[in-house]
Amino acid sequence: MSKAFDIGIEALAAGPQPATLGAPETTPAEAAASESRASESLPIAPNGKSFYIETFGCQMNAHDSEKVAGVLLERGYRAVDTILQADLVLYNTCSIREKAAQKVFSRLGEIRFATPRKVIGVLGCLAQQEGEEIFERAPWVSLVCGSASYRKLPELMAQVEEGGRRVSGLDLDTDETFETEITRRDNPIRAYLTIIEGCDYACAYCVVPHTRGPERSRASEAVLAEARRLAEAGYTEIQLLGQTVNSYRDPSPRGLNFTQLLREVAAVDGIRRVRFTTSHPNDFHREIVQAIDDTPVLCDHIHLPVQSGSTPILRAMRRTYTREEYLEKISWIRAARRPFSITSDIIVGFPGETEKDFEESVTLLDEVGYDSIFSFKYSPRPNTTAATMPGAIPEAEQARRLAILQDRQRQIQIARNEKLVGGTFEVLVDGRHESRNQWSGRTTSNRPVNFTSPRQNLLGEYVQVRIARASANSVAGEQVL
Ligand code: 5AD
Ligand code: SF4
Repeated sequence: MSKAFDIGIEALAAGPQPATLGAPETTPAEAAASESRASESLPIAPNGKSFYIETFGCQMNAHDSEKVAGVLLERGYRAVDTILQADLVLYNTCSIREKAAQKVFSRLGEIRFATPRKVIGVLGCLAQQEGEEIFERAPWVSLVCGSASYRKLPELMAQVEEGGRRVSGLDLDTDETFETEITRRDNPIRAYLTIIEGCDYACAYCVVPHTRGPERSRASEAVLAEARRLAEAGYTEIQLLGQTVNSYRDPSPRGLNFTQLLREVAAVDGIRRVRFTTSHPNDFHREIVQAIDDTPVLCDHIHLPVQSGSTPILRAMRRTYTREEYLEKISWIRAARRPFSITSDIIVGFPGETEKDFEESVTLLDEVGYDSIFSFKYSPRPNTTAATMPGAIPEAEQARRLAILQDRQRQIQIARNEKLVGGTFEVLVDGRHESRNQWSGRTTSNRPVNFTSPRQNLLGEYVQVRIARASANSVAGEQVL
């Protein structure tokens, strides 16, 4: 089942020494706020064991780590701020592109010298992709567990605590979702809430169906109960998560579809903003636009990954839609009364992508007018159909195409952001930059805004900001009092 590592295990020993290990960077305000929230609601370890989770990759992974932390806290573990302080170190990994996988391997190399004092676990997509092979190649790892097996974590952790050395959870064939009693949320402003796990699409380049397993939706009542708990805990913004979030189908007798669920989450008392990501164009229907248009709580931002602007490449990628069909969906969004922000993911240099195909991706940027994109060089992944396709594009050519695409998108963003100058927008404040004497936050369209204000303690507040300046990635202004 599992394929060989992307890079040799020799590279594991080549990384920097443990002195470089530390907590990922957050703004001081974020760190302070998350500490205070964490200590308000979380138990102190009665068993004296401490843990640290380092997370790689997407928001789904970030939120999975919050739930895994909840499982550990329930078992009496205590969260610590650095790897050096931790008895148990978990890496929640990503394998979407080779670079992401390599980063994990270098971390495993670094931690090698800190064992046997520490117990090391590998979770997430790389764990699922490489499976027990990880024990062979990195014998200092005691636990390997893919996300589809997280519901078994309590029993796997019990084995690890009894001294188990090669404990694994690698079942993919499941119809269950990961439910936790406690979730230790790291972000005090925006709460992530998973509504659907796995993926039933089979995009030719993508490891996700192989690493996260088949699509399974959570019962609507469980989702709504969690949304109500979040509102009671003081959250006002929720982001619904799923690899294909809009494929949601309530498995309970209520049988809600995605739009119905969106409307019900938006109606939860105390919730002022609801976002969702990532949408698949195939399951993107007009009624989603209608729901957003007539429900101000539903944020006017849609992340709708296109991947390529060329229909032949979309077909080779098995994306299930053409350029024209995608653009038709964009036209529904543009016809809404509210101006929506639209963002996307694009891959350049997929096998067989001609110059003409690539240019269609560039012209699509203008046709849609994206507010931002994530763009990537195609990276061949184990177990995917594209990995053996002919017509590989050399890395230098991929890099050239990526630079052209990003440059064009930058111009589009500058022009779009400049149109906001002079306008006033509601911003949910999520950070403070002391050195610049600025606050930061997001509009409902998810646009980053930096602003000045004579007020104190704005974190988590909704404020009105008049925009005075624009750049490619953010806008800036001052609070309107
Ligand atoms: N190579 C490059 N980019 C990829 N993505 C997924 N798989 C690959 C791959 N093999 C990108 C897609 C997806 C985003 C999360 O990562 O654009 O939407
Ligand atoms: Fe990967 Fe495609 Fe599924 Fe998205 S829809 S997770 S790109 S297989």
